[in-house]
Amino acid sequence: MIIEPKVKGFICMTSHPEGCKENVARQISYIKKLGKTAGPQKVLVIGASTGYGLASRIAVTYACDASTIGIMYEKPATDRRTATPGWYNTTAFEDFAAKDGYYAKSINGDAFSKEIKDQAIELIKNELGKVDMVIYSLAAPRRTMQDGTIYNSTLKTVEGDFTNKSLNLNNNTVIEATIGPATEEEILSTVKVMGGEDWKDWITALVEADVLSDNAITLAYSYIGPKLTYPVYYNGTIGLAKKHLYNTSVEITKNFASKGIKAYISVNKALVTQASSAIPIVPLYFAILYKVMKEKGNHEGCIEQMGRLFHEKLNPIHIDKDEENRIRLDDYEMQEDIQTKVMEIWNQINTENVSELADLTGYWDDFFHMFGFRFDNIDYSKDVEI
Ligand code: NAI
Repeated sequence: MIIEPKVKGFICMTSHPEGCKENVARQISYIKKLGKTAGPQKVLVIGASTGYGLASRIAVTYACDASTIGIMYEKPATDRRTATPGWYNTTAFEDFAAKDGYYAKSINGDAFSKEIKDQAIELIKNELGKVDMVIYSLAAPRRTMQDGTIYNSTLKTVEGDFTNKSLNLNNNTVIEATIGPATEEEILSTVKVMGGEDWKDWITALVEADVLSDNAITLAYSYIGPKLTYPVYYNGTIGLAKKHLYNTSVEITKNFASKGIKAYISVNKALVTQASSAIPIVPLYFAILYKVMKEKGNHEGCIEQMGRLFHEKLNPIHIDKDEENRIRLDDYEMQEDIQTKVMEIWNQINTENVSELADLTGYWDDFFHMFGFRFDNIDYSKDVEI
């Protein structure tokens, strides 16, 4: 089949197996060049197939020589449809890892469910014994509970309308967008999906099954960002879920203190991923941020962030944290000169100057790369097996 991108708003309906493989290969090659560092040896990554989770898995494998089990929720190909990118990424990653002599197995299913937790525990017990790190990198639109109740995650404000500039992803124009406030129920649901409850359930289940090592570390990812996006992110529904996630990190560390288990939040940089491109107003901020950080020379993608996490922030002897015990990989993004420049541009930006003042090319390259498109060394006119 010849596969072309079919973009609908913030999602691409197709993905390219060869391109996804290339995406994984480039990330592996980056980490190989960075070299080795001490770190965990047996790692469970929940949400391991795309974005930050995939980059974490690649980084910990190739930088620390770790064995990994990955959990994801992806769709295989059918006769007429390509698989989701996370499916191709995982197949490619497992192939590369096997060739390079690493243990890497994956479970495809709903991480919120008891069944998948049980499967993961069985696999750890039978093949790894115990894990010494758990990375929780889930970004999910909904969560189905054991009794069938479904909670949906929403990206809204919690106090009134928020109107600001936004990038119309259909035609790259700068428009004004308004995000309305969430209901109490929507707030609660978002916290259920993106808060820390399921993270704690995972850690509790792993401890009870005795498959988590003493002194293990668990990480979950969060975002803060600039005041500009506070109404839609930090102070919005997702921000409330992230505060819950943070409180859960404190709770996990306290509850499992006798085993020395420590939970940390890593605050990461704003990057184009399947989860983040769905947030209104934020993509325009991303495109400006990319421009400013590339000009300063400190722009990073998911893999550069995760390389820095293991090489610089998670040193086994000294973990580099802020006063609230959080790892800050958003340190470059939040530098004062970067944020001042971003705001200057934000105030001037419009449809006429957007391609000059923002890195639209970088934004769209990252977007297409996520689905395996726009790699210059892939021949997209060739028939591929999906
Ligand atoms: P992503 O959309 O690339 O990855 C989500 C992962 O979760 C995928 O592996 C997917 O298969 C998996 N997943 C989703 N629902 C699942 C389910 N029910 N069961 C099992 N697996 C499931 O998202 P991204 O951006 O990498 O997000 C990961 C974490 O990083 C999130 O907590 C996000 O809030 C956080 N983060 C993201 C930033 C960004 O700008 N992209 C910035 C800072 C933090």
